[in-house]
Amino acid sequence: MEGSFVLPRKGSISDPLRIAVLISGGGSGLASIIAHEKSGSRFFRTVLVLADSNEAGGLKHGEMAGVESVGVPLPDIESKREQRLFHEKLIQTFLERRDVEFIALAGYMRILTPGFVAKWNGRLVNIHPSLLPKYPGAHAHRDALADGAMISGCTVHFVDEGVDTGRIIDQAEVPVLSGDRIEDLQERVKNAEHKLYPRVIDGLAMNPSSFLGRSGN
Ligand code: GRF
Repeated sequence: MEGSFVLPRKGSISDPLRIAVLISGGGSGLASIIAHEKSGSRFFRTVLVLADSNEAGGLKHGEMAGVESVGVPLPDIESKREQRLFHEKLIQTFLERRDVEFIALAGYMRILTPGFVAKWNGRLVNIHPSLLPKYPGAHAHRDALADGAMISGCTVHFVDEGVDTGRIIDQAEVPVLSGDRIEDLQERVKNAEHKLYPRVIDGLAMNPSSFLGRSGN
């Protein structure tokens, strides 16, 4: 039941694209997006930060920047399916209340349902810490090291119904160095993410159709 792929409207400096950033953890990616936004004239504006728990450390980055930042924990419902659907309904309510036009996942650790993805198709992106299609899933760095990869990196992609399978928008490479531990690679990749993601979001907001994939994927 894929919804049709609809890109966001073009943002402008005077009327920037209204984005929400969804996080689960420390939010260093969110911090980089906000820092980019504050450091010049941008085509997007972060109007909402949502986390899937009240404890997500990253909420403070939004709060410090004066952006509405809300933890939306999973509701207490026994059926996992109902719980997921109700949680997303809550998220959707916050998004609509703030007139959000575009969603950037930044370390958001929940898999979104096909219904939610369909609703935001073309206006929902994620950053993943590997050069997709290599090493999808929650253990990208571990998998890259186990595979003996010499190059890794990060990928910004549209979100589809699969796990890290959506259309690739842009990537940045980093070397894997001998003796790297997971944390070493993670830090190097995060540094690359923090440059790539804000730039891609701003570029998308400025000219959405120019970011339609590199090789027809
Ligand atoms: C990032 O590496 C991102 O690519 C991955 O989760 C990490 C989130 O880190 N999906 P942070 O919470 O932004 O610091």
